[in-house]
Amino acid sequence: MDAFLIQGGQRLSGSIAVSGAKNSALPILAVSLMTDSACRFGNIPVLRDIQTQVKILNTLGVESHWTGHEITTKVKDSYNSTAPYELVKQMRAGVCVLGPLLAKRGEAIVSLPGGCVIGERPIDLHLRGLEALGAQITLDQGYISAKAPKGGLKGAEIYLGGKFGSSVLATDNVMCAAVLAKGTTIIECAACEPEVVDLARCLNSMGAKIEGAGSPRIVIHGVKRLRGCDYDVIPDRIEAATFLIAGAITRSPITVTGCKPDHLMAVLDVLRQMGIRVERKPTSLKIIPADTWKCADVVTLPHPSFPTDCQAQIMALMSIAQGTSTITERIYPERFMAAAELKRMGAKISVANGNAVIQGVDKIGGAEVMASDLRASAALVIAGLAANGETKITRVYHIDRGYERIEERLRKIGARIQRVADSDLPAPQAQAVST
Ligand code: EPZ
Repeated sequence: MDAFLIQGGQRLSGSIAVSGAKNSALPILAVSLMTDSACRFGNIPVLRDIQTQVKILNTLGVESHWTGHEITTKVKDSYNSTAPYELVKQMRAGVCVLGPLLAKRGEAIVSLPGGCVIGERPIDLHLRGLEALGAQITLDQGYISAKAPKGGLKGAEIYLGGKFGSSVLATDNVMCAAVLAKGTTIIECAACEPEVVDLARCLNSMGAKIEGAGSPRIVIHGVKRLRGCDYDVIPDRIEAATFLIAGAITRSPITVTGCKPDHLMAVLDVLRQMGIRVERKPTSLKIIPADTWKCADVVTLPHPSFPTDCQAQIMALMSIAQGTSTITERIYPERFMAAAELKRMGAKISVANGNAVIQGVDKIGGAEVMASDLRASAALVIAGLAANGETKITRVYHIDRGYERIEERLRKIGARIQRVADSDLPAPQAQAVST
């Protein structure tokens, strides 16, 4: 198992390019199931989660070739429509094959994703939406079995809001299923995340007829079949935000390139509130370093509000802000795994009932800390870059799930970070936790 060793306190400089969006690539790769034609997907980040998705698609009869940041696919056979537990448990987003499989093959058996360190990950909204299209859903021995009626799925008007608001992957699954349904589907309270828009754009490039993606009301006019696609996914807004916050906390004038600033408005607004200026160009953002920054109050909500996937990272920045900040986590109320580790570094954070109170301190110190989930690990890297002394982050396979070669890319802008083999710990088993 690997660990990161970080010597904190280094000023960074130069520019760092953003990878393709993991949370776009995962559902977009699943549309390869919806066509008999070949597909090419570009700007795909080289990540463990993508590898897991490729394995899931392979078990479902999709032959793929992965070269660098490009994956080509073609469905070779459709004998197997079961996405197995041993793969889906490693990456909960594997559930996003449900809608595509049901749409194209009329049936899908997908392992229930199970638990996850960031909290309960229900799929009731996915199932509500697919049932509204006429699917017969049964749950048996940890698997979801979905079957379309003899005449195929039929368009419907679907309200897809849950107690936490909209759902990204539920919107994706229902949108995909509706694309090949008969008639028109309206999804009300659809997720508005840029990754949902990206999926809709990819499907429309294949001949789908989807309107309104990016708004809470998506209209899908069913079509008979889809052609192949040649599609590049959008830049990763969460990775862009992570690098911006790393620049802010190390007081470094770094430029994040190849990003879409429009996808980061809520994060940019919080940085503005904290007194951190960001120079904005059409595809890049540059930190104007501040010696000190103010506290802020953040509430995580569905897009376009502040993203839960940036919550741990902003918590690291708040740890050495002036004054007391608060975070209200409205998407995953237990998603505060970074807090305990940041406290080992001297941060003053109290967490209760989905709220965190972060009392800013002048500095944090290096320590041995443990990564626990993808975004909490990113927060520990950010804190380590700013801390006095050395930080060792163990279990960095968590971060490899969502950030491509992050230590190499940070080194290129001056960070003193290296990956070391951490022989103290056994090699990671297939993780029963996933995000
Ligand atoms: C997506 O997960 C992202 N993953 C997550 O990113 C992200 O945190 C999340 O959206 C919220 O933005 C991918 O896109 C692969 P949700 P998803 O369904 O779609 C509740 C990362 O770090 N809910 O939008 O699974 C749910 O409990 C990952 O990259 C239901 O109640 O999340 C949560 O409170 C972590 N019923 C809220 O909705 C359902 O059927 C939003 O979840 C589904 C969800």
